[in-house]
Formats: sequence, C-alpha cells, structure tokens
Amino acid sequence: MKTRLGIFISGGGSNMQSIAKACEQPNFPAQVSLVVSNIPDARGLRFAKQLGLKTVIVDHQSFSTRKDFEQEIQKHLVKAKIELVCLAGFMRILSPFLVEKWQGKMLNIHPSLLPKFRGLNTHKRALEANEKTHGCSVHFVTVGLDEGPVIAQSTIPVLSDDTIQALQARVLIAEHILYPQTIKQLCQ
Ligand code: GAR
Repeated sequence: MKTRLGIFISGGGSNMQSIAKACEQPNFPAQVSLVVSNIPDARGLRFAKQLGLKTVIVDHQSFSTRKDFEQEIQKHLVKAKIELVCLAGFMRILSPFLVEKWQGKMLNIHPSLLPKFRGLNTHKRALEANEKTHGCSVHFVTVGLDEGPVIAQSTIPVLSDDTIQALQARVLIAEHILYPQTIKQLCQ
C-alpha cells in the first residue's frame, strides 16, 4: 500500500510538483492524496489541478483563531486519510495543536543547512555570512521553528560571484531531488 501524502503549499509549489512527479513512478512508495493551500490564489494550486491532484484551500484569513484554522485543516487530512504531511513552501507557523497530532509524521523542507539560518531570507544570510557551502534540509516538524530533527541534507557550493537569486535557484534544484528521495526512504 502506498503512503498517503498531504502536501501543504503557500506559493509556487515547485517542491509539490517534484514530489508529485516522483509519485508517478510505479515503484514509488507514496501517493499525493491531498494538496492544502492557505493562499486562495497560490500558483501551485494551478499546477496541482493540472496534475489531477485533489486540492483544498484553507484560507487562514477566514478564521479568527489559529486553532480554528488548524482544526479545519485537520478535518481535511482525516477525511483524505492522510498518513504523512509534507510542508512544501508552506509559510504559516503551525501551533502545537496540529504539530503534536502529526509528531513524527510531518516533514518540512527548509532552504538552508540547518541548524544554520532558521527562518526567512536564508540565501541572503548565507551570502552575508560568507558561507562556502549552503543547501537545504528535510526535517521533522516540531513546535520550535525549523528546529525539528534533520533527516537529510543536500549541500551545494557558494560561488564567488553568487547572487541571492542564483543561489536560491540552485538550492531549489537540490530541494527537488532531496525531498522526494527522503520521502521514498521514509516510506519504504
Ligand atoms: C522553497 O525554497 C522552500 O524550501 C522554502 O520556500 C520555497 C518554496 O518553493 N520554504 C521555506 O522557506 C519554509 N520556511 P516552492 O513553493 O516552489 O516549493
């Protein structure tokens, strides 16, 4: 039986697409059963629909509390019989309410070599710190922001003439390889 994935997005959804493409391989041990977006017009939703994936919008702005927002998400995850949640460019901080329900079953991809550069603007900060290497990490989600145990990382060199955009683009390519690989290993 393939593991049923729920993918959370807020934007472009390129990581979601790379996971969905990997899931199309017959021997891949997981399938995308639901895509959740908190942004009603997220670009990734369009791609998800093109790929024939089931999508749901849970707009955080429609809820007066974080718990109400997360309760609605949880309802959709249960209904779709989700077994593993993959945050893929999901830009809302989740509270203990949802994180604790999915302990050990919720992953995130973060564009840095954690524990370096938690939070935002990771590429800019890596350049400013004169890092020689940069990359991305897949980790279990815990209550602390980008603090959960790291499962896998991909390292790339920082080039002497790198710009934020160039570095970001190369890290994203590494993300598209690392995330499906890590899901495969965990689900096997
Ligand atoms: C990715 O680089 C992902 O690592 C990052 O947002 C981008 C989403 O791209 N996530 C975070 O910064 C989470 N803290 P995508 O929507 O094209 O997958």
